[in-house]
Amino acid sequence: MIHKRTQAKWEEPLILNKGGAGRRAYIPESVNLPKETIPDEWIRKSPLELPQVSELELVRHVVRLSQMIHGVDVGPYPLGSCTMKYNPKINERIARFPGFADMHPQAPEQSIQGTLEVFFWLQETLKKLTGFDAVTIQPPGGASGEFTGVLVIKAYHEARNDTKRDTIIIPDSAHGTNPASAAMAGFKVIEIPSTEDGYVDLEALKSVLTENIAGFMITNPNTLGLFEPNIQEICKMVHDVGGLNYLDGANFNGIVGVIKPAKMGFDVMHMNLHKTFTGPHGGGGPGSGPVAVSEKLRKYLPVPIAAKKDQTFYWDFSNKKTSIGKVHGYNGNFGIALRALLYILRNGGPGLRKTCETAVLNANYLLHHVRQINGLTIPKGKNVPCKHEFVASASKLLKETGVSTNDIAKAMLDYGVHSPTVYFPLIIKEALMIEPTESESKQSLDLIADVFKEITKLAYSDPDSVKNSPHLTSTGRLDEVTLAKKPVLSQLIEKKDIFS
Ligand SMILES: Cc1ncc(COP(=O)(O)O)c(C=O)c1O
Repeated sequence: MIHKRTQAKWEEPLILNKGGAGRRAYIPESVNLPKETIPDEWIRKSPLELPQVSELELVRHVVRLSQMIHGVDVGPYPLGSCTMKYNPKINERIARFPGFADMHPQAPEQSIQGTLEVFFWLQETLKKLTGFDAVTIQPPGGASGEFTGVLVIKAYHEARNDTKRDTIIIPDSAHGTNPASAAMAGFKVIEIPSTEDGYVDLEALKSVLTENIAGFMITNPNTLGLFEPNIQEICKMVHDVGGLNYLDGANFNGIVGVIKPAKMGFDVMHMNLHKTFTGPHGGGGPGSGPVAVSEKLRKYLPVPIAAKKDQTFYWDFSNKKTSIGKVHGYNGNFGIALRALLYILRNGGPGLRKTCETAVLNANYLLHHVRQINGLTIPKGKNVPCKHEFVASASKLLKETGVSTNDIAKAMLDYGVHSPTVYFPLIIKEALMIEPTESESKQSLDLIADVFKEITKLAYSDPDSVKNSPHLTSTGRLDEVTLAKKPVLSQLIEKKDIFS
């Protein structure tokens, strides 16, 4: 059942425009620094213009700000390709244990045995789940994992003096980071089209397979949420001309626990730990994009790798001479690695399989409802089940009512549901990429479906209402072009008398 937001719009003044002279939170005496520790020339001559607010004013300000934004803890967040699943709070608690949180990156190995153990066991569990032989946890996100993996492919060919291999093939449904990573590593990119059904066009692939091919990069399940039925044949075709197969495993959550990617014929893959195995997504990171490789690529992985001898854990630099080098200031985003390991261990193998199956079931339940909505269509994968996500198009709705995908996305905020990913993948016009994740209950899924139904119905009866939405959020429709081209990152503060 839909509960439209009823909360009135409110504006929250800047904290600098709140409070009054002399107001402050309680500060225990012991916190006052002894004056003599600060050299005279560093002591301020004029007071610092900090907000002067009471503790209650501060708490209310921060709590209100937190309510003005949408998050997974507030309502459904079916943002395709982002896997906005629930992050168990126990992970956050454990990540804050002083032994983990206060660890110094330069601490000697014997004093960080626990940290090394976490890295080591994460490597081991990822090896098991992917079927590969070696793993690095270093890359701090998916795109960085891709870049690492492509550099590993390059190092492999160079070590064999196979330097004519200067091209990577990528399907047109790929995430934009794939061609970007390949180009950054110095490769030319050939894009191949997808078939009507959304799969790799085998004829198109065949036509570009030459002895110049260094590798083939594919996302599977792909960005349409479809599992590539010909994947083994595709990997064999690429191997037959001497190329390597790269799996963009950002969508690993659609197959984890069910298939081991190494068995499909891949040589290297990255995973987005922050997606498949939970991890906070806020503010663009931090993430973690471990790379797993087959035995023949092990020696090119970044150094060091966490290793174990007898009962002692250590950083292994033994492949230093052949390694592509380091791709992270430390040896990986430890906090995310820890959360991922906790999630994996708490679920166990059968549990992970269940999360995957539930994510797929949830996506298909929603797909079933969306297929029946007037104005929305499913252009690719028309008659097949999806994996963890699917892509709808609002082209028909736009044509018949003038209401676009962007308008639907904005209107959803009035119902307390975050919008799906929009206008991606690029091969679908007016795309709505929907990924409910395994976290959502049937009631939540029904809510998301009802919101789509209600907005599309409104589009036919009162299109302007949808086009001018959102109506109930703190900020209405923004001028997104100006916002992107001329961002204003500070605001002139109207000074009140609080500093006088
Ligand atoms: C298919 C795919 N590949 C690569 C990436 C890049 O990952 P990241 O954003 O962690 O760099 C994403 C991001 O969601 C993705 O969905």
